[in-house]
Amino acid sequence: MTQQAETKSQADIALIGLAVMGQNLILNMNDHGYTVVVFNRTTSKVDDFIANEAKGTNIIGAHSIEEMVAKLKRPRKIMMLVKAGAPVDELIDQIIPHLEKGDIIIDGGNSFFEDTARRVKYCESKGFLYVGTGVSGGEEGARHGPSIMPGGSPTAWPFVKDIFQAISAKVDGDTPCCEWVGENGAGHYVKMIHNGIEYGDMQLICEAYNIMKNGLEMDADEMHQVFAEWNKGELDSYLIEITRDILAKKDDDGLPLVDKILDTAGQKGTGKWTVLSSQELGIPITLIAEAVYSRCVSALKDERMKASKKLKGPRALIAGLTGKSGVNSQKNLEKKKKFVQDIHDALYASKIISYAQGYMLMRAAAKEYDWKLNYGGIALMWRGGCIIRSRFLGKIKEAFDGSKSFSKKSAKHELDNLLLDDYFHGEIKRCQKGWRNIVATAAKKGIPVPAFSTALAFYDQYRSAVLPANLLQAQRDYFGAHTYERIDKPRGEFFHTDWTGHGGDTSSSTYNA
Ligand code: 6PG
Repeated sequence: MTQQAETKSQADIALIGLAVMGQNLILNMNDHGYTVVVFNRTTSKVDDFIANEAKGTNIIGAHSIEEMVAKLKRPRKIMMLVKAGAPVDELIDQIIPHLEKGDIIIDGGNSFFEDTARRVKYCESKGFLYVGTGVSGGEEGARHGPSIMPGGSPTAWPFVKDIFQAISAKVDGDTPCCEWVGENGAGHYVKMIHNGIEYGDMQLICEAYNIMKNGLEMDADEMHQVFAEWNKGELDSYLIEITRDILAKKDDDGLPLVDKILDTAGQKGTGKWTVLSSQELGIPITLIAEAVYSRCVSALKDERMKASKKLKGPRALIAGLTGKSGVNSQKNLEKKKKFVQDIHDALYASKIISYAQGYMLMRAAAKEYDWKLNYGGIALMWRGGCIIRSRFLGKIKEAFDGSKSFSKKSAKHELDNLLLDDYFHGEIKRCQKGWRNIVATAAKKGIPVPAFSTALAFYDQYRSAVLPANLLQAQRDYFGAHTYERIDKPRGEFFHTDWTGHGGDTSSSTYNA
């Protein structure tokens, strides 16, 4: 081979996995001037891709891992975009024999963060570096700029930084939605929280839609207008935008397509992992949990069909606010407009709670796993490219950066909770009346709003200096001698009472799960 030909075959990065996300990321890398060598287990896919989508680009095809590795510059960077779980471990073991010390394996799939932590350790023990990175934004994001959340071996970051930041989404001109997140599983953890929040945002939008549809009898076109309006204000986001567009989409017969879609939601597990982690760390992320469970309830379609015939409740129609109740007077139209604004406020306030809870969980995880998470930086990474991208995240960044939220005196304080930030608690105050009206009306009308109401319940619990857990502790001590602390004694002193007069004096050990 001539010197020139050899230089030409020196690729910057390899990518394994030619499903749509993989293909789009490769084309994105190529657009930014990187030479990518690609491989897929079914090698005919490589040939198809090179002959079609990649035609006329600098992308190189490889028919074996060995051939792929041989075409890479050192340290070699090999990115996998394959199904999470066992396929990732299998692929790592196939790649490793072809590597040299210091080479970097990258997992860009939705892997479980504990698997990533284990893989980092495994690869490092063999002298290689490992990056587990969240990549969000779906097909379009992968092609034109996703949000990228890398973590793993810190020494790998300088080698992948330029390429990752080049292909990522940009906000405020040229700020990349990609920064180093932290060690071991931190990148995939933050992506998992992103997905949990994504579940929450989607559920909130569905609840708003449900009240409009069943409580107000609004049709898809009317709701399309509402979401279009909402997208111009503080709810401006990708998910509101696509909801607006979904509501406008007609089926072949001219009727709204959304009305023909079966109401059973799927899920691939990242929402569930978020809830499991919250249980592990003892952090209430009640809204994301309700969002996951709501998908589970939706999947019980046959049971729900049967139950709908037997279990009775109030009529969902909100009298005086629907067209069908003969109320098109100016006064009633005003009332309806006000109610739709209340739905907006319920969604917005609940969304603030959801992000506050998500950040509480990240804070607890950072402590548990010894990560130094940059909370403002995470909001920035989520501002563009990803599924939860929104104007709102700009405000979260400001809150964590302290630029607007603290007086000069306390500017150095870390924000403990998003709800304590001046801007956000002001917003909650402004939306509270409408939020409570929606939760109360929905309860009276039998319209399920699990996420709106759990958010409100959390808000009321979180702002309570005193909760009824005194009684709960008494119950635990009564039946199991689990002991309690007293308000008139220092914390850490435990007491047991013989509640019945025939219990013993022995208390059970005091441990906290
Ligand atoms: C993203 C998404 C993506 C996720 C899908 C499907 O950030 O691009 O979060 O990673 O896999 O949205 O998730 P579910 O099937 O669990 O809804």
